[in-house]
Amino acid sequence: MHVFTTKKTLTNFLSERINSSFSIGFVPTMGAIHAGHISLIKNSINQNNITVVSIFVNPTQFDDQIDLEKYPKDLVNDVKLISLKVDADIVIYAPEVMDLYEENVSIETFDFRGIELLMEGKSRPGHFNGVATVVNKLFNIVKPHRAYFGEKDFQQLQIIRKLVKVRKISTLIIACPTVRELNGLAISSRNNRLSKYQKTRASKVYQILHQVKQKFNDDSIINITKWVEEQFKMDTLFKLEYFNICDISTFEQAVNIDLTKSYRAFIAVYVADIRLIDNIALN
Ligand code: PAJ
Repeated sequence: MHVFTTKKTLTNFLSERINSSFSIGFVPTMGAIHAGHISLIKNSINQNNITVVSIFVNPTQFDDQIDLEKYPKDLVNDVKLISLKVDADIVIYAPEVMDLYEENVSIETFDFRGIELLMEGKSRPGHFNGVATVVNKLFNIVKPHRAYFGEKDFQQLQIIRKLVKVRKISTLIIACPTVRELNGLAISSRNNRLSKYQKTRASKVYQILHQVKQKFNDDSIINITKWVEEQFKMDTLFKLEYFNICDISTFEQAVNIDLTKSYRAFIAVYVADIRLIDNIALN
């Protein structure tokens, strides 16, 4: 395992190895490594000669300073966990803010055709421009052939697909399925803040999405949405923020189903003060 904290040492290392038949796989993360991250890393190892994992809590994608300060940071533990779970010689890039942003910690604005303003972008203004700003910087440094993103954050995945298009970046974006607990709960660093009881009950989010998928072929979107809202209203442990069935290319809320398009159901819900998101493919 090679750990670099500056782009200079990282790019020196990569430039010594790069040649025409050599491929770099890249997994951007904010650390607090869990099984979801590990599955992305394993996919990259399988498909590339070298895998670079970045560990960087990106300040420009947080609209809430307290959230940023509370984000868990433990590089030593992350490196330990990765070397325990992954049987390959990989590269970790864990820079300080100065190394990536230099003097200018600012957000670039991108034209993502409005999808940056919906759902996660609506609850967290500026979030996706912050994500795209840092991923663009990281792509410029690592120059990966393939980059791996989780379907857990499906809206982010689509934003990154748009980023490579608008910036004409040649990196191939690879989508990786959501890794779940045995009870269906999507794995996330936030799950550590749930009590054992809350964690068990939070599996309801996936169970509901699973039932939505079954209802999708037989019921109207209005009825399905009402049903979901009722399921959460009845249960005081949860507070539903949004439930949407969207066409995945525009993220517009579906009214009628056009089976030539691909739809997903998206959910954001609070369990106490912990905000969970999840989604499922419907067709
Ligand atoms: P982070 O939340 O650390 O997630 C890093 C990557 O892991 C993302 O692509 C995310 O979708 C994926 N991931 C998280 N949980 C997963 C799960 N249960 N199953 C599969 N994949 C999962 O997303 C970010 O960091 C940041 O926004 C980043 C892209 C690094 C930019 O700062």
